[in-house]
Amino acid sequence: MNLATAPAHAWPLTDLRPSPDDILGDALAGLSSTPKRLPSKYFYDAAGSRLFEAITRQPEYYLTRVELALLARRAADIARTLGPRLHVVEYGSGSGRKTRLLLDALQAPIAYTPVEISRATVLDSTARLADAFPGIAMLPVCADFTRPVPLPTPPQPARGRLLFFPGSTLGNFDDHEAVALLAAMRDTLGSGGRALVGIDLVKDPAVIEAAYNDAAGVTAAFTLNLLARLNREVGSDFDLAAFRHRAVYAASRQRIETDLVSLREQSVYVAGRTFAFAAGEAMRVEISAKYTDAGFATLVARAGLRVVAGWNDARDWFGLRLLEA
Ligand code: AVJ
Repeated sequence: MNLATAPAHAWPLTDLRPSPDDILGDALAGLSSTPKRLPSKYFYDAAGSRLFEAITRQPEYYLTRVELALLARRAADIARTLGPRLHVVEYGSGSGRKTRLLLDALQAPIAYTPVEISRATVLDSTARLADAFPGIAMLPVCADFTRPVPLPTPPQPARGRLLFFPGSTLGNFDDHEAVALLAAMRDTLGSGGRALVGIDLVKDPAVIEAAYNDAAGVTAAFTLNLLARLNREVGSDFDLAAFRHRAVYAASRQRIETDLVSLREQSVYVAGRTFAFAAGEAMRVEISAKYTDAGFATLVARAGLRVVAGWNDARDWFGLRLLEA
C-alpha cells in the first residue's frame, strides 16, 4: 500500500468549519458591541477541546459525570423509547463518550453523524467510534451547528433521525437564540424525528458556581484560551495576563455568566482596529443556563416542540428530555 496516498480515514468528512473570516467577523462584531462579548463557540479549537475534557475531570464539574451516569443507568429504557434503526445526529459531540453509551444501547442504529466545530476533535472521536461500532455508518460533519448543516444521507435508509444534544450545551444560548436553534432542530428532525436533549437543572447555587470555578483553575485556562486562539487565528494581541476569568451564578436569570475582566485600562489591536478596555471592564464570553421543568417546557414550546419523555438522576441535578414536533 502506498502510505503517502492512503486516505487518513475511511469515512467522508463534511468539512464546513468556520473560516478565519467568520471568526474575525464575529470577534469584531462582539468587541464593537456594548458591553463587549465574544461567542463561546470559539472556545473549541483543538487546545480548547482538550481543556474542556480536563474540566469534565475536575471534582467540582458535576455535569458530565452526572449525565454519563444517568445515561448509563437509563440507557435501556431510553433505547426502548427511541426504537430501532435510527440515524443518530449529535450536536457538539466532543469526545464521544456519551455517544458510546447511547449507540451501545440502541437497537441496530444505521448511521452516526457527529456535528462538531473542532475538526481535530471530530476526526479523533470518529476514528474511535468507528473501531467500536463497525456496523454503524460514520458520517461526520465539522461545522458550527448554529448555521444550516446539510446532513449526509445514510447508505441504508433509517427509520428516522434522532438529534442527540447532550451536555446542556443548549444552556450556552440565551432564550432567543435557544428558541431559534430548537426551531432549526425541529426542521432538521424531519417527519417522525425526535431530539434527546441534556439539561442542567436548577439547584443549590453554590454547587453550580463551584463547577465553573474549579480550584485547579482549569476553567479559567479554558476561558482565557479563547484569547490565545484569537491571537493566533485572527491576529489580535490580547495580553492573557491582563484579563481574569469570572463566573457568577445569576439566580434571577438562572444561569452562570462568565466574563473575562480587564485587569487594567488597555487597548487591544484586532486586524488593524483598536478596542479600548477600562480597568474592571467585563467582556461576556459564555452563559450556561440552568433549567426548571416548567421553564424548559415553555422554551421548547416557543420552537414548536414538546417534551414527550424525561429522565433525571436521583438528585434531580441533570435531566435528559425527549422532544417531538
Ligand atoms: C459546553 C455546556 C458542556 O456550559 O457547562 C464548562 C462548557 N464552560 N465550563 C457548560 C463549559 C465552562 C459547558 N458545556
